Amino acid sequence: MSAGTAGGAATGATGRARLAVAGLGRMGRVHARNLARSCPSAELVAVLDTRPEVARPLGEELGARVVANYEELLADTAVDAVVVAAPTAAHAGMVLEAVRAGKHVFCEKPISLERGSTVEVVEALSASSVCFQVGFHRRFDPAFVAVAERAEAGELGEVLLYRASQRDKASPAPEFIAGSGGIFVDMGIHDFDTARWLVGEVESVSAHGAPWRDPAFAATGDYESAVVVLRFAGGALGALDISRVAGYGYESSLEIMGAKATVRVDDPFSARYEWREAGAASRPLVESYDRRYGAAFAAELEHFARSVLAGQPAEPSGADALAAFDVAQAAAESCRLGAPVAVPPRPGSPSTRRDGT
Ligand SMILES: NC(=O)c1ccc[n+]([C@@H]2O[C@H](COP(=O)([O-])OP(=O)(O)OC[C@H]3O[C@@H](n4cnc5c(N)ncnc54)[C@H](O)[C@@H]3O)[C@@H](O)[C@H]2O)c1
Repeated sequence: MSAGTAGGAATGATGRARLAVAGLGRMGRVHARNLARSCPSAELVAVLDTRPEVARPLGEELGARVVANYEELLADTAVDAVVVAAPTAAHAGMVLEAVRAGKHVFCEKPISLERGSTVEVVEALSASSVCFQVGFHRRFDPAFVAVAERAEAGELGEVLLYRASQRDKASPAPEFIAGSGGIFVDMGIHDFDTARWLVGEVESVSAHGAPWRDPAFAATGDYESAVVVLRFAGGALGALDISRVAGYGYESSLEIMGAKATVRVDDPFSARYEWREAGAASRPLVESYDRRYGAAFAAELEHFARSVLAGQPAEPSGADALAAFDVAQAAAESCRLGAPVAVPPRPGSPSTRRDGT
């Protein structure tokens, strides 16, 4: 196929996939810098932000063209694929436009704030030949990948308990929270995808949220922290805690207890107990997700670029994005109702028991 069209290998003169990043905020800047410096199969050819004063210096820093608007970006035959890192409310429309223009798409999570438009995007992707990947970067973190491989090989045995914590050091601004889809769809979606990936489909969820203490956030109608109980189709139970305001640092930890073994994704404890408070902890902690997952953010785009070059489907897919979104919505609904909520079953996807059978 020719460069810049969907459905097969796409290359520039360098033999690399030519990517553009649209939306250059917290996440878009990480992606643009990775494409320019850390993804051998990709080259960053263009950047776009609705704020030119943000796009211009980054384009200069990374040697990428600054385009004026999304239409110009999609019309550019020197762009094979677009990374959508604009605010979530814009994702679905931008993905659909990219599909119509025949551009491959990497889209930050979640695809949309609503299920209807998520389904519309997933269906449009299925009917097209573009390569699509959603930004569930943990699937590219070496520790998580090792756990997935050993779980898949049956080394954990039947999974009995799953526990994960995701805590931001400090919250983004109230304006971001208001447009984020809420703590379950914005943050929890990573945990729900990880749970599906490592353990299996989620059958039902119960969730509770604690309201913001800071009045500046109260109008968002969202929660400052939350606890979610998962019941997996294979019989395991899961417990997640999520917080926007841990104070001491960023944490993303995980434990899976199986009948044969228990695994933790966390640094080993250096003392009998660990004491953490603002600015101080008994072992070094990272400050944010982009420090913790720096290599994974590059690896996910390298995987996407290779899929684009090979003309092969990328993963995690639109269906993965929809599945995690469904769990997130069920969690939000459970929290509203104060009762467990069933998660829609996944067609053609049998529940997984991690007992090697
Ligand atoms: N994978 C992760 O761990 C992770 C982490 C943070 C954010 N995200 C996701 O990334 C997306 C962006 O979040 P963020 O924290 O970077 O937001 P942000 O507010 O920091 O940045 C968004 C940027 O997009 C620009 N923008 C707004 N509308 C645009 C449009 N139509 N076209 C192009 N640019 C536009 C804004 O000017 C801003 O610079 C969100 O969907 C969020 O869920 C993912």
